Amino acid sequence: VHGDGLLVDTVLDEVVRACLEHGGRVWRSPTWDVEVDLVLALRDAGPLANATAEATRLGVTPAADGAAHGRLADEEFLLTRTDGVTVVLADTPAGLLYGLFHTVRLGAAAFDDDRAPERHRPALHLRALDHWDNVEVHPVSGQVERGYAGGSIFWRDGAARDLTRVREYRRLLAAVGINAVTVNNVNVHGEAARLLTDRLDDVVAIAEVLRPYGIRVHLAVSFAAPVVLGGLPTADPLDERVRAWWADATHRVYRRIPDFGGFLVKADSEGQPGPFTYGRDHADGANLLAEALAPHGGVVRWRTFVYNHHQDWRDRSTDRARAAYDHFVPLDGRFRTNVILQVKFGPVDFQVREPVSPLIAAMPATRLAVEIQATQEYTGQQRHACYLAPCWSEVLRFEPWGPDDRTVADVVAGKPASRRTEERRTVPGGRLVRPEGGFLGPAFAPDGGLLGPAGGAGPGGGVAGPGNRPGGGPGGSAGHRAGHGGGLVAVANVGDDPFWTGHPLAQANLYAVGRLAWDPRLTADALLDEWIDLTFPPSTVDDPELVRRTVHAVLDDSWRTYERYTAPLGVGFMVRPGHHYGPDVDGYEYTPWGTYHFADRDGVGVDRTPATGTGFTGQYPQPWSDAYESLERCPDELLLFFHHVPYGHVLHSGSTVVQHIYDTHFAGVEQVRRMRAQWRELAGRIDPAWYERVRERLDEQLRSAVEWRDQVNTYFFRKSGVPDAQGRRIY
Ligand code: GCU
Repeated sequence: VHGDGLLVDTVLDEVVRACLEHGGRVWRSPTWDVEVDLVLALRDAGPLANATAEATRLGVTPAADGAAHGRLADEEFLLTRTDGVTVVLADTPAGLLYGLFHTVRLGAAAFDDDRAPERHRPALHLRALDHWDNVEVHPVSGQVERGYAGGSIFWRDGAARDLTRVREYRRLLAAVGINAVTVNNVNVHGEAARLLTDRLDDVVAIAEVLRPYGIRVHLAVSFAAPVVLGGLPTADPLDERVRAWWADATHRVYRRIPDFGGFLVKADSEGQPGPFTYGRDHADGANLLAEALAPHGGVVRWRTFVYNHHQDWRDRSTDRARAAYDHFVPLDGRFRTNVILQVKFGPVDFQVREPVSPLIAAMPATRLAVEIQATQEYTGQQRHACYLAPCWSEVLRFEPWGPDDRTVADVVAGKPASRRTEERRTVPGGRLVRPEGGFLGPAFAPDGGLLGPAGGAGPGGGVAGPGNRPGGGPGGSAGHRAGHGGGLVAVANVGDDPFWTGHPLAQANLYAVGRLAWDPRLTADALLDEWIDLTFPPSTVDDPELVRRTVHAVLDDSWRTYERYTAPLGVGFMVRPGHHYGPDVDGYEYTPWGTYHFADRDGVGVDRTPATGTGFTGQYPQPWSDAYESLERCPDELLLFFHHVPYGHVLHSGSTVVQHIYDTHFAGVEQVRRMRAQWRELAGRIDPAWYERVRERLDEQLRSAVEWRDQVNTYFFRKSGVPDAQGRRIY
């Protein structure tokens, strides 16, 4: 191991630890001339001995594959095999650390003599996990809001925990590529607000544990902090006292945590305080915090999960799906460069099937991050096996502007618009909106009101609600660089459970989050193979091939299986209100939180077309706007998200809607039955505790799937009166 720095020390520690466990010796520094198998070196730490000379040359001059030349980016590394030595090179300590974990992942393959040089850098700069952990046990949401893996690993009953487990967690996170962690819930309750000020010591302690593994701490803060903590009469973002308070509080944080990542804010959402109280908008609010963070290099992640949760179910014009776009798109171009808008992947709320949020394609002058939910709030709460990488991968590969244009992953990586996208973005007046030099200049949105990709003036593109204010807040003219993108953020699924994630197989989701953020092109299948290799090393199991086949059999299709036995065709939200586990078809239908299926005796689904519905389809750019609007072209799996159709409507699959509901629900249960039987083949072949935990959960998954099947099928049979074509039992 060659080089200096905190993270290089970490690399050394890791290698020492590995040698202690598996044998081998470690040398530090290049003055020796010994035979080694693996060199991990920072290139600018001085000359290296024999075996690495060739690799160093590869690292600085263009190689045959054109990959290895010039200076490497932060976190980037090269891996080459020369003269029987495997060499990992980086220009920053973080690159070296990721290079080490890459080598571990490759295992013996890293030592194949015919290995071609490789160069790896993360696609996304920010690869974050948000813990929805409460400092105190909250009467409704408990120690971890939507947590299904035991208590928090950071907090217990109002106090910071012993951080022994976090020392293992940091290794796990760095190994999968995560570089940021938010340590408290977005709903900032009670004591948690004080983490920013007089409880900062707790955050410092966590930051110190995470730092050697390249992980920066973020804090969810309350927008009302100047009032709640600072004793000011207002939290108005344009008030000088408020600005000064945030600047000072932030400065104090950086004095103690120089690599502090930034703030996460849920504002004017589900009861959390925000700028609306003062007649200000989200740009005013976000820029206030961004201004305080800017001198220190921090970012504010401002969530776009803003909607009316006091809706009247009788009012058919309110559509929760439209809300984020309506609130935020008019503000494009007004956010400071260190603001990242954090957008849930779908327009509603982490349902098993949603279209990709149209907001992602509509804010070219703003840095955007996609938020996904590793914690399985709506996908079985870690009692059901549900491998979500296929879902996330579909989202990240989605092309909002149609084939051969940027993907969602490109947008959150900050990749500039292609010429085609630009041309399509000609606004009705004929002005071509053009990014310059790889990022989006201020001319892009002179009045802070850039129109959406479909022209914005189209049906459904209009703006309602208090978010639409012209003019800039403090720092509103600070430039509009979208070039860095915003990254990928997942709500964490980890707790103090012995298996980390409650359901041991849910570890694969955590693994996939980090790896997809590093490289969104990785397939769900390949990621599962990686995870299986690392989780069940051949020496620890009997019949590794059977283990691999079985885990694939259980998980590969598990997301679609979950979809089959729960809410059909994109309709969503048929869950028990409150805890969100198990079926309740009408649970939310007449509540203030939104209305989701509109089922009656004739049909089901939400009409979101401009002609007769809420106009939500108009928020998409072409070709999706037309595709979703068209009953003929709308993909089956999203049909009921976009259209209200009769039960007899024939899908592309050839089945009617109601028959599809029956068939998929029967099939989904049978699939769970098979998953359960397949798992049983591993009895006695893997760690018994592991085996048992999964077995128990699969029993519960089957019970629950049967409940879902029977309630959903019975509901639609009773509503429609249409019998199952196959005469199966419906109640
Ligand atoms: C969902 C979830 C809440 C959470 C919210 C959010 O509505 O049920 O627990 O607070 O999302 O993302 O802020």
